[in-house]
Amino acid sequence: MASEETADGHVKYYTLEEIKTHKSTDAWLIIHDKEYNITSFLEEHPGGEEVLVEQAGADATESFEDVGHSTDAREMLIQYYIGELQMVQRLLSLNSFITTSGDGSSSWTTWLIPAIAAVVVGIMYRYYMLERKSS
Ligand code: HEM
Repeated sequence: MASEETADGHVKYYTLEEIKTHKSTDAWLIIHDKEYNITSFLEEHPGGEEVLVEQAGADATESFEDVGHSTDAREMLIQYYIGELQMVQRLLSLNSFITTSGDGSSSWTTWLIPAIAAVVVGIMYRYYMLERKSS
């Protein structure tokens, strides 16, 4: 999609550190791993400038979705698109989403990995026994 590319036809990737520096007069927002420069939109936002400034320089996906923005609002995003959040940081935010479930300290991933390992070992053992019987 042409609108999701820079003028030279390449998608630009931004780090969280870089995005964090754009939270004052030039405001950037992350929504669904995409980066938007909403500086010129601040005063036009029907929901007010303040809520956008509060989220500037950070990931606003959750608050954007919580409001239940219309299709029109979603289509407006295209005008402000400047690039994508770097892949590594998408994975990091996904990882912290998984590992901070519940009270934020415990995590189902801590027992999931040993559980998967146990199942794999069980299956290997069965194959080993079957092969011994048939030979
Ligand atoms: C660049 C991103 C955004 C765009 C293009 C946008 C656009 C809009 C538009 C067009 C509306 C009018 C209602 C609608 O059509 O849904 C609206 C309302 C609103 N937006 Fe946003 N918005 C953005 C980001 C945000 C964020 C991050 C927040 C929350 C922190 C937010 C909070 C609100 C609120 C509270 C309303 C008023 C809802 C109401 O009065 O019913 N918006 N926005």
